[in-house]
Amino acid sequence: MVDRRIPKFHDLAPLMQFKKPTFDLKAKRLREALTIEDLRRIAKRRTPTAAFDYTDGSAEAEISLRRARQAFRDVQFNPAILHDVATVDTGWDVLGKRVEQPFGIAPTGFTRMMQTEGEKAGAAAAAAAGIPFSLSTMGTASVEDVAEAAPGGRNWFQLYMWKDRDRSMALVDRAAAAGFDTLLVTVDVPVAGARLRDSRNGMTIPPSLTPRTIVDALPRPWWWIDFLTTEPLAFASLDRWSGTVAELLNTMFDPTVTYDDLAWIKSQWPGKLVVKGVQTIEDARRVTDLGVDALILSNHGGRQLDRAPIPFHLLPDVVKEVGADIEVHLDTGIMSGADIVAAVALGARFTLIGRAYLYGLMAGGREGVDRAIEILSVEIARTMRLLGVNSLEELEPRHVTQLERLVPRARS
Ligand SMILES: Cc1cc2nc3c(=O)[nH]c(=O)nc-3n(C[C@H](O)[C@H](O)[C@H](O)COP(=O)(O)O)c2cc1C
Repeated sequence: MVDRRIPKFHDLAPLMQFKKPTFDLKAKRLREALTIEDLRRIAKRRTPTAAFDYTDGSAEAEISLRRARQAFRDVQFNPAILHDVATVDTGWDVLGKRVEQPFGIAPTGFTRMMQTEGEKAGAAAAAAAGIPFSLSTMGTASVEDVAEAAPGGRNWFQLYMWKDRDRSMALVDRAAAAGFDTLLVTVDVPVAGARLRDSRNGMTIPPSLTPRTIVDALPRPWWWIDFLTTEPLAFASLDRWSGTVAELLNTMFDPTVTYDDLAWIKSQWPGKLVVKGVQTIEDARRVTDLGVDALILSNHGGRQLDRAPIPFHLLPDVVKEVGADIEVHLDTGIMSGADIVAAVALGARFTLIGRAYLYGLMAGGREGVDRAIEILSVEIARTMRLLGVNSLEELEPRHVTQLERLVPRARS
């Protein structure tokens, strides 16, 4: 039996939590996004299908990307208990300079097509967070504009070697002059991957107005208003293009690039040189012997060769092979700060985020990128504390077991 009574006002008062109505809908939307997956859902709602699919999609049957994300989900963390974790430091040195987080923004092409603030928003948000920003050869802001958008920021330039070598290297010279301190040479695009969503959507750059895209635009008027009332899409490096991405890539990219070209690029670049897109232990050894400063284990976010090796699975063996001689970085599939912590525990010095940043950008421009970085940073610090470590140096392979279909993987 329960005795009932009439509630008194002072019982109710602490329960009443009427918030002041907020008129900043963007801030509200972003505040309510608690994970990168939440930002992805907002991005999908607000962005035309073709632009969203260009970002979200990958090559062929999209197996590489699914596997890479699954590999991170199949992590078992092994926490150490009873450590004082009142303070935690999520930064350390990467390529000779301190970063505040063990991740940076990956180079992505056509970024202003996803959201018009594009690379400038990415570079400014990265600078504010104390992490590097990478500008793609296929970026939609010039090296000079990116440098100006992020005074004091650390910018990296990503090079695709084109058939026109002089033009490629002229860009590299401009990046050096604008203060970019690191060159990422992407080596996994001898030809374009088959992005089937783009073909099915009939995606063009810039987006074209067809009956289908107009119907698609109706529920997303703000994206189009924004797009049509800002500077037309221009590229960091090339003039306007109207065709599919695959046509553009295959017209420009040089399928004859070899290790000799990499050595030549190294002789031309005064800063740090990083090879992006290493996918086997043998290639990791070869690029290390060439004397580059870091390699990025990456399958381009699954956008090139489908069924490519999973970078996170390659990591322990590659670190064992070359980790004493070179920094090993990693990307592809990162959707949470816990993924980044797992990669660092297995020996990655640094990681890059592609889509996680772009979902934030599409969800809310500069503030959306800030939110994506904040979500990952909070997840990193919390995961480190729960593992019982105060610094990235203390993260070790013993903190992570890679599960394969829930069977522990043998440690190498
Ligand atoms: C929309 C998009 C465009 C990209 N463009 C480039 C590019 O121009 N150059 C490059 O080296 N990598 C490019 N990438 C690959 C990223 O740099 C990075 O390797 C990849 O996004 C990492 O996987 P994640 O998206 O799962 O984080 C692109 C990726 C995406 C999603």
